[in-house]
Amino acid sequence: MKQMLDFLRPAPPTFGHRVRAGARLLSGMGRARLRGRPFMLSHLVTSRCNACCPTCLWRDPDGRELAADDIRWLYHQAGAAGIVHLVMWGGEPLLRTDLPELLEAAQQAGLVVTLISNGHLLRQRWPEIRGRVDALIVSLDDAGTAHDRQRGLPGLFADLDDFVPGLRSDPLRPKLLVNTVLSRLNRGALRRVAEVARAWRVGLYFCPMETGRMETGGFAESLGHLSLPLSELREAARLARLLKRSGYPIMATDAYLELLAADPDLTAYTCRAPRAILTTEADGSFRDCLRRDRSLATVPQMRAAGQTLDTLFARPRYRAMLAEAEHCTACNNPDVIEISWLWDLELQMLERAVGLVVS
Ligand SMILES: C[S@@+](CC[C@H](N)C(=O)[O-])C[C@H]1O[C@@H](n2cnc3c(N)ncnc32)[C@H](O)[C@@H]1O
Repeated sequence: MKQMLDFLRPAPPTFGHRVRAGARLLSGMGRARLRGRPFMLSHLVTSRCNACCPTCLWRDPDGRELAADDIRWLYHQAGAAGIVHLVMWGGEPLLRTDLPELLEAAQQAGLVVTLISNGHLLRQRWPEIRGRVDALIVSLDDAGTAHDRQRGLPGLFADLDDFVPGLRSDPLRPKLLVNTVLSRLNRGALRRVAEVARAWRVGLYFCPMETGRMETGGFAESLGHLSLPLSELREAARLARLLKRSGYPIMATDAYLELLAADPDLTAYTCRAPRAILTTEADGSFRDCLRRDRSLATVPQMRAAGQTLDTLFARPRYRAMLAEAEHCTACNNPDVIEISWLWDLELQMLERAVGLVVS
């Protein structure tokens, strides 16, 4: 509650843009929730990537991506349907040369934008995206050259370490966060990235790695050999709780950390994620999260047929996915679990929603 009230205090004038974005986000989320509609569009803006993370389930050598016109249509439709938050990821979004135009389209559609990036091109492209992104999540698998090795990008950590902390003095800076995926490839990294996040004065998200995806025939696991044993995930949850209590900027809610410590397989939640999040894959297909091999529809098809997102939301298959997802616990990350709690109006999550953009 205290954090929620902090939100009402006058913010320093230079960060007024973040307060406005936060207020827009919260009121839009409230409206969408009342209508039972998604408030977030998760968009893989490309499947091309300049890194080669062994844990990745989304990079695609064919480099699929929608044309800018289709993306403008998508963002306009999203805004018109009451979606208020756009998360751009991929693949590596900074590889898209038309990113500033896409960000402008998002802004015109009234969307609050979070960008997830490996940051390799951040210094170079910062002037183009400055002031157009509300939250920036930089991925960090470890500290120092261990991070570079995992990403296959020599010099990446040193460059981020040199550039990211300096952004704090920029009045148009977005909310800054880092994200760390825990796997067998970065054992012990949580403590190291927590030190980095504290030094950079940014929030730290972490999650156990996803090992596959739900398909028509059931869970198709391709990367199970890289996931941490449950005992180590339980240890990571305990460590995160200790770090959080000691003032490290761990973003996970206490409720998520408690669940991860008690049930590291993360099966004790009711998934509302597809109710809250509409996901568009790099090729423009709207994700059926229980049958990722069969899309619900595609952006080019819907655009050509003159349909709106309301058509999609009315489809029996879309409604069936929402209902079936409530019995699925295949996902283990806080995005899915915490957003499900947010949908269910859990207080910790309402507080976190305020803190996401405004700090
Ligand atoms: C797929 S990347 C795309 C955006 C961008 N290229 C980047 O690296 O941040 C988005 C996030 O997913 C994380 N990630 C990679 N493999 C993962 C996995 N198997 N399970 C969960 N997250 C994963 C990355 O570390 C990154 O933070």
